[in-house]
Amino acid sequence: MSTPPKSDAAPQTLDAALRPSRWDEYVGQTQVKENVRIAIDAAKKRGGMPEHLLFYGPPGVGKTTLSHLVAAALGAPLKNTSGVAIERAADLAAILTNLEPGTVLFIDEIHRLSRKIEELLYPALESFHLDLVLGKGPSARTVELALPPFTLIGATTRVAELSGPLRSRFGGGVYQLDFYSDDEVRAIIRRSAALLGLRAPDEVIERIAARSRATPRTANSLLKRVRDYAEVHDRPLTAALCDEACTLFGIDALGLTKDDRRYLAALEKGFRGGPAGVRALAATLHEDTDTVEHVYEPYLLRLGFIERSPRGRILAPSGRGYLGGEHPL
Ligand SMILES: Nc1ncnc2c1ncn2[C@@H]1O[C@H](COP(=O)(O)OP(=O)(O)OP(=O)(O)O)[C@@H](O)[C@H]1O
Ligand SMILES: [Mg+2]
Repeated sequence: MSTPPKSDAAPQTLDAALRPSRWDEYVGQTQVKENVRIAIDAAKKRGGMPEHLLFYGPPGVGKTTLSHLVAAALGAPLKNTSGVAIERAADLAAILTNLEPGTVLFIDEIHRLSRKIEELLYPALESFHLDLVLGKGPSARTVELALPPFTLIGATTRVAELSGPLRSRFGGGVYQLDFYSDDEVRAIIRRSAALLGLRAPDEVIERIAARSRATPRTANSLLKRVRDYAEVHDRPLTAALCDEACTLFGIDALGLTKDDRRYLAALEKGFRGGPAGVRALAATLHEDTDTVEHVYEPYLLRLGFIERSPRGRILAPSGRGYLGGEHPL
């Protein structure tokens, strides 16, 4: 099975090392930033906490980073957890009852919370209490547990999988973080190069930006891989070296990898250009449906190489052109 782009994208340490720690270092997403700042500043003025926030968007576009910045701007403690980690009612109760008052509770992959946990969470979000059922059968009783006030920040790559009732609890707003423009990606690479102590000429920054799938994490990861290649060969960072390294990595001029090419080729050859159901496509590729839908497709859709129709995926003329060699390596 091939490796999805996300896992080759970045070891945690790189994410952590290059993660902006100041508001002004966070490039792009201007409207989201402005709205979130208003919520933060208003809360600070009132001397309270902002309402709960939800950030959604593709992997690596800055959801975790922005959540950390919100906590920092509030001067609030941050508690990190994830939807996968909260399996039982007791897990949730342990987290919530131990929060320091005024904490930002960050729940990553919030779409993974079970319905049971979601329902338990509602009163906690609305009025900072938990209704816990103690015991079983006729002797079961409910106790109400008061909680310290907190702000929840949820993050997800799959907003569609969130239930309506949970979505409606994010009174501070539901914000989409989108792909980045070329200029923004270049600014991110420039900053990262400086942090890594690299002398990267503009043409190198441009080359890497063009292959970064409009995604900060991919940009940082590719910068680091090209740096490694240059170091191993004891050569300076040049455009030619970038091209050479990317050819070796199997990353083409648009940032597409062999997995993307396999996807497009399967759609063209296996399904005559579609429409093809995502499950059938995934089975042909020996991939799981989630990876195909949430890792490969968003960028192919953004490039306009594929389209989603009610009957399935369709290869767009530009996708066909790409396979025909309009965008060589
Ligand atoms: N707006 C930004 N400006 C500068 N760097 C950014 C920005 N957004 C993200 N990055 C960089 O990209 C890395 C990945 O971002 P982050 O971990 O916040 O993404 P994410 O959306 O939470 O991804 P995932 O869905 O995989 O959890 C960060 O460590 C940071 O270095
Ligand atoms: Mg994250």
